[in-house]
Amino acid sequence: MRNFVSAVLVSALGLFTLHAQELPRLEKKNDRFSLVVDGKPFLMLGGQIHNSSSWPTALPGAWRSLEAMHANTVEAPVYWQLMEPQHGTFDFKNVDLLITQAREHHMHLVLLWFGSWKNGQNHYVPDWVKSDLKTYPREITARGKVLDVMSPSGTATLEADKTAFAALLRHVREADSAQHTVIMVQVENESGSVGSVRDFSAEAQKRFDAPVPTDLTAKLTLRNGTWSQVFGADADESFEAYSTAHYINEVARAGKAEYALPMYCNVWIAYPVHALENRDRPSAGQGYPSGGPQQANIEIWKAAAPAIDALAPDFYSDDSTLFRQLLSQYGRPDNPVFIPETNFGSNFGRYFFYALGSGAIGFSPFGVDTPGRAEPPAGAPPAIPGQRRPASPAENFALLGPIQQQVAQWNLDGKLQTAVEEKGVARQTLHFGDTDAILSFGFPQGDGAFPPGTPDLQGRGLVAQLGPLEFFVTGFDVSVSFHLNEEATSHNEQIEILRAEEGQFVNGVWTPTRILNGDETDRGLNFHGGNQQYTGILFHRIPLYDPAIHDATPRLSR
Ligand code: DGJ
Repeated sequence: MRNFVSAVLVSALGLFTLHAQELPRLEKKNDRFSLVVDGKPFLMLGGQIHNSSSWPTALPGAWRSLEAMHANTVEAPVYWQLMEPQHGTFDFKNVDLLITQAREHHMHLVLLWFGSWKNGQNHYVPDWVKSDLKTYPREITARGKVLDVMSPSGTATLEADKTAFAALLRHVREADSAQHTVIMVQVENESGSVGSVRDFSAEAQKRFDAPVPTDLTAKLTLRNGTWSQVFGADADESFEAYSTAHYINEVARAGKAEYALPMYCNVWIAYPVHALENRDRPSAGQGYPSGGPQQANIEIWKAAAPAIDALAPDFYSDDSTLFRQLLSQYGRPDNPVFIPETNFGSNFGRYFFYALGSGAIGFSPFGVDTPGRAEPPAGAPPAIPGQRRPASPAENFALLGPIQQQVAQWNLDGKLQTAVEEKGVARQTLHFGDTDAILSFGFPQGDGAFPPGTPDLQGRGLVAQLGPLEFFVTGFDVSVSFHLNEEATSHNEQIEILRAEEGQFVNGVWTPTRILNGDETDRGLNFHGGNQQYTGILFHRIPLYDPAIHDATPRLSR
């Protein structure tokens, strides 16, 4: 017994050492991604705190909200202005506070580097950068206006940003490499230029008139020439995109040389006209920061910023078609899906499930620390069987939290799909080879009647195929049934339930709590809103009518 215990301890210690050495990293399998933390796939259920919340006075409220939200990760800013008050003097007090308190609250941490760019402007650069326009040049518009945007052609600014970012990553390595509280770093924030399609300063103009660097033309298989010759009408923004991406790549490289955490850039996307609230056109530098990694610039950014592991769109719109479009634009073999910011609101759960179905490594609403946002709406009536209580954003992470590791693994393995209710589409089918899962949204569902849907489109479900005829199912306001699809039924087979179990994963092992049957399975597996329920279901195949089997009993002759 003693030997056994010590053998277990030795191997546990061995594992600990191994995981202590293994940095958080992105793993790729068949064009799908997982964020791996301490050797295990990790689904980031995040919450981003407000811009001015990485402070001792604001953090207590933020932790309360994050816990109410069931988040497993906090995204929190690091302010260059505060971190390097004098050139070359660093102050990591607020960074240490974030790390220590994240640990106390059992959360991981994503640090957001508010450096040269914050929302297409320079508001977080230190005072000594802001006030020395000669050493740290600004962008100049075509009409000669000086912008509050750092010029991406400013070599001293780049050096200063690189040095500060490297110092941050060195500090995080020293403080955290044994514990991996910090799992990712965002390099700058919504970069690009607000105020001009590109920088027209003398230095930028010189670069603009020169040939496009051949590393870019080669990667994009374009002919060589000046920016105008190669990119025509898109020359200005393409130049800005390359300059910005190249700059930020250098910053990321300097950081990774100290501590090679996964790094991403969040994106202020180009919203189409119909999704813009107060703007009449989505023009570069006006409707969105020109040159940032918006949809049309993905190729340039991928080519010019290989040190950036993910371009990650922020999403602030109610247009779910646009959201799905973004998931497919940013979900590429060279780019994991990651949503680092969204608004709260009635689409929260729907977008989260869409993201999961696209293999997202994480999802994080913005401004989680606004009091009352994460919790159920005040005065929410108690759950009434068959009816839905008002949706709470927190119910999503509450459901996914206990299965986050499984979900991350299933996504990496390509086993998981989701369906989300859309207006007028109260039933959807997911295809798993020859088996279909049919998801019907809203209750009550009468026999033979079409599902009613929900008034606020809150039906959403997740199905993972764990074996040829074995599935894991969960969701909200949805009933899920299975059948063989037409192709399979032409082979004279059908499926029936062998066993359906409600249960949970305990230390990674499926642990049933009861067997479901009768009303709980006959018309589908039912997941009412607000309930936290996971179901495993196993089918077997039986032949369709076969005279050799079904007519084997002798009949009475008449
Ligand atoms: C997007 C930015 O990335 C955030 O820092 C914050 O400013 C939000 N917009 C505010 O809506």
